[in-house]
Amino acid sequence: MIALTYSEAVKTGVTVSTRLAPQLPRVQGDRVQLQQVMLNLIVNAIQAMSGIGEGARELQISIDAVPSEGGVRVGVWDTGPGLSPESLPRLFEPFYTTKPEGMGLSVCRSIIKAHRGRLWAFPCEPQGALFQFTIPAT
Ligand SMILES: Nc1ncnc2c1ncn2[C@@H]1O[C@H](COP(=O)(O)OP(=O)(O)O)[C@@H](O)[C@H]1O
Ligand SMILES: [Mg+2]
Repeated sequence: MIALTYSEAVKTGVTVSTRLAPQLPRVQGDRVQLQQVMLNLIVNAIQAMSGIGEGARELQISIDAVPSEGGVRVGVWDTGPGLSPESLPRLFEPFYTTKPEGMGLSVCRSIIKAHRGRLWAFPCEPQGALFQFTIPAT
């Protein structure tokens, strides 16, 4: 998904980096669904940063092991405008998505839930947003 979105990131002036833990447990899931989740989170981050003026445009994708769950935690972090306290509780509501045909955050959360994981979002200091999801061991 990083490769697929890379040209869009470059076009938007976004620097992409990864932080992937060297030792990760294997998790089982629906590959296409999880790819769609990643695609939406990455595209959201790039689109959020396309609107900012000067300043760093950074996107970092991370994967860590979560030993307590025997699973993994994936993070998509950006330096965009971030998430307002008002928007935070509404982000995952079905009709908050702005693209009618798009696969929004509400669907992403359902997919992660179906994998027995969780998807949530944090505003970041001094700017930007972090979306994280976990996938527990099978
Ligand atoms: N990384 C982000 N930074 C800032 N706002 C975001 C980010 N990701 C999502 N959002 C906000 O949440 C909204 C809903 O996202 P999503 O459900 O994926 O729908 P869509 O991308 O089709 O608008 C976006 O329109 C945007 O306002
Ligand atoms: Mg989206």
